[in-house]
Amino acid sequence: MREKIFAGNWKMNKTLAETEAFLQEFVNYPGIGRGHQVLFFPPFTALVLMKELIGSVPIQWGSQNMHSKDSGAFTGEISPLMLAELGCSHVLIGHSERREIFGESDAMVAEKIAAAHKHGFKPMVCVGETLEERKGGQADVKVLRQVDSALADLTAEQAARQSFAYEPIWAIGTGLNASSGDAQTMCALIRKRVTEKVSEDVSAAMPILYGGSVKPGNIAEYLQQPDIDGALVGGASLKPDSFLEIIKNALGDLFGQVAN
Ligand code: PGA
Repeated sequence: MREKIFAGNWKMNKTLAETEAFLQEFVNYPGIGRGHQVLFFPPFTALVLMKELIGSVPIQWGSQNMHSKDSGAFTGEISPLMLAELGCSHVLIGHSERREIFGESDAMVAEKIAAAHKHGFKPMVCVGETLEERKGGQADVKVLRQVDSALADLTAEQAARQSFAYEPIWAIGTGLNASSGDAQTMCALIRKRVTEKVSEDVSAAMPILYGGSVKPGNIAEYLQQPDIDGALVGGASLKPDSFLEIIKNALGDLFGQVAN
């Protein structure tokens, strides 16, 4: 059984004061992070606070982006060494906002993935199609191209530390979430590809998340799908109450139970 994962992507939101207010409330919910995984991708500045504010509560954190080099003349970038010092376990790589707004190619994403593995992070790699690609019947082609590139050159051990988030670009921040059936179809396609490219064992254990306008009211139907293991949540992760409601609505009676 794959553990359910709830990842909050805060994007370019939250000052240090806002991060502190959020976490002081959130980490005190009884049962949070027990029997399921909670993960935050705060802005770089807020990463400094995570260790101190999360303490011994079972919540992990990571960065929203990372440069592939350890150091050098890359103004405005952040290196894996800097992130390692801040206790990051994960790194989000290839979010569509990075790919579409900041021009990250599959090749750049692959370099970042390699660097993340070199430094012992768990990369969560985002893949997804535009509305035009979906309408043109190209969603599968696009997503599989991104998946292939994200798996190329990885050892099975590295692939086993990786996760994918299927995030259709047209569903991000728009309120237009993918149907749970369509999301399942795409997540199953990704899993099948991991089987083909890596192994059955790795694909059976790999977390594959859905992201795109996930809300407390629609999370349950996604998590009922066999190949969807969690959600990458943007807007609805910014308030402690709504993120908690997402977790509770997804898990129902299982919330707070410690998996044995
Ligand atoms: P959203 O963002 O939940 O606000 O649609 C998801 C994401 O970009 O990861």
